[in-house]
Amino acid sequence: MKIAFVGKGGSGKTTLSSLFIRHLAAARVPVIAVDADINQHLGAALGLDDATAAALPAMGAHLPLIKEYLRGNNPRIGSAETMIKTTPPGDGSQLLRVGGDNPVYHACARTVRLDGTSVRMMATGPFTESDLGVACYHSKVGAVELCLNHLVDGREEYVVVDMTAGSDSFASGMFTRFDMTFLVAEPTRKGIAVYRQYKEYARDFDVSLKVVGNKVQSADDLAFLRAEVGDDLLVTVGHSDWVRAMEKGRPAPFAELEDANRRALEALYGAADATYAQRDWQRYTRQMVHFHLRNAESWGNAKTGADLAAQVDPAFILSESAATPQPA
Ligand SMILES: Nc1ncnc2c1ncn2[C@@H]1O[C@H](COP(=O)(O)OP(=O)(O)O)[C@@H](O)[C@H]1O
Ligand SMILES: [Mg+2]
Repeated sequence: MKIAFVGKGGSGKTTLSSLFIRHLAAARVPVIAVDADINQHLGAALGLDDATAAALPAMGAHLPLIKEYLRGNNPRIGSAETMIKTTPPGDGSQLLRVGGDNPVYHACARTVRLDGTSVRMMATGPFTESDLGVACYHSKVGAVELCLNHLVDGREEYVVVDMTAGSDSFASGMFTRFDMTFLVAEPTRKGIAVYRQYKEYARDFDVSLKVVGNKVQSADDLAFLRAEVGDDLLVTVGHSDWVRAMEKGRPAPFAELEDANRRALEALYGAADATYAQRDWQRYTRQMVHFHLRNAESWGNAKTGADLAAQVDPAFILSESAATPQPA
């Protein structure tokens, strides 16, 4: 299950992603945690100290390796250089599973221990001054997108992505890569504005979108969110002393998280799981091809000097059965 947390900066995307990841891990569900925000905070929210978080490999820096591995022996993709972030898998491509091992995980994933269990974590890498030339920046986030497009996940396997809700994810189609998108919104006009924009894009692509109200303090806050987002409001989270204690550098065991917040996480898990029944790999594949053709036309063909439409394998459908099992 591919899950995104999006929303305005400061709304609590990283906090809620990390709590959801901890919740899944505590239930012994395999998880890959992905920090796809250019401001990298997920590692810290999962309890890594600064040095360990800073030492996480940057997926953006491993893009050549990622492309080389994923293209496998797909005859439609002649070289890693012609692979762009939207290049879809086809016959011969290597697919990723949540479990198992492969050169991409070897280079980019690290194990994060959480209260007697663990998850895998990957990060796009920080956004630095030198990335201000847009091309680099796009390719950084593109590494996550390539992995999502080549990743086959089953029902009790999660990829949780802490993501920026930028125009980037709309242009590339990244926002369509998830079984469920949790839009984290504070009960403010700005929080709602991001929801409206997302909803607008999501509508045309059957994106499952639910609002998670955060920092909801009063009945008035709740009424505001209800009035503004209606049935899209899944659940609300209040101020958490557990989160605050962690921010103070005094983390408590996850078992001590407030009951109300644990119930909220249970609701997220339930809502995510419920989307499994509607999963449609055909649509998923069709959408990635749609965005690939759009990106090929608008910049990819010019950038690579190749006709990237030829990378599309018309007979290929990503699916659980398309994935060859990887050794554990
Ligand atoms: N429910 C909560 N209870 C207490 N503090 C919270 C809660 N949600 C977010 N915060 C705090 O608010 C700040 C911003 O949250 P963060 O998750 O980093 O936002 P984002 O990732 O959307 O930019 C952080 O200091 C975080 O600890
Ligand atoms: Mg964040």
